[in-house]
Amino acid sequence: ANKLGSKKERTLALIKPDVATKIGDVLEMIYSSNLIVTKAKMTKLTWKEAAEFYVEHHSKPIFNNLVQFATSGPVVAMELMGDEAMSTWRKLVGPTDSAVARREAPQSARAQFGTDGVKNIGHGSDSLAAAAKELEFFFPSTIGHGPANTALCTDC
Ligand code: TYD
Ligand code: MG
Repeated sequence: ANKLGSKKERTLALIKPDVATKIGDVLEMIYSSNLIVTKAKMTKLTWKEAAEFYVEHHSKPIFNNLVQFATSGPVVAMELMGDEAMSTWRKLVGPTDSAVARREAPQSARAQFGTDGVKNIGHGSDSLAAAAKELEFFFPSTIGHGPANTALCTDC
């Protein structure tokens, strides 16, 4: 917790290529959960960049499909901030497989907008350490800040 005792965190939210027309709906979900968007950019990842981003999945059979999809169109990367931002965003996104999401979390983004296990709308950092690393990947540290080694806000 920071000086004020809150558990404000930063997390990396990535909207994958299949949500290009749904960005507004996803933003509504974010705001409804009391998270705010503090950084955002649309970009198209190269194969090399996506492979680096997903390096922890490198040895999995799904890896090529994952990188293929992630590079198939523009993505929107956002820094979200708020109370328990990391787990809040992952809950909004829902279970990895969109079909499971439709059964178990019908309000989630994957349930509403996802296609299957790979085309599943979004990515969310799964720990504060991952959030710090993934935020640095999309938003390299700028003036006045060293590399973030934690996503727990001490200045928000
Ligand atoms: P993972 O980090 O396990 O899921 P999440 O996105 O919910 O954190 O996996 C990363 C991505 O890899 C996932 O979004 C889609 C793909 N994937 C599959 O297609 N099938 C699978 O069985 C797994 C585990 C992942
Ligand atoms: Mg993951």
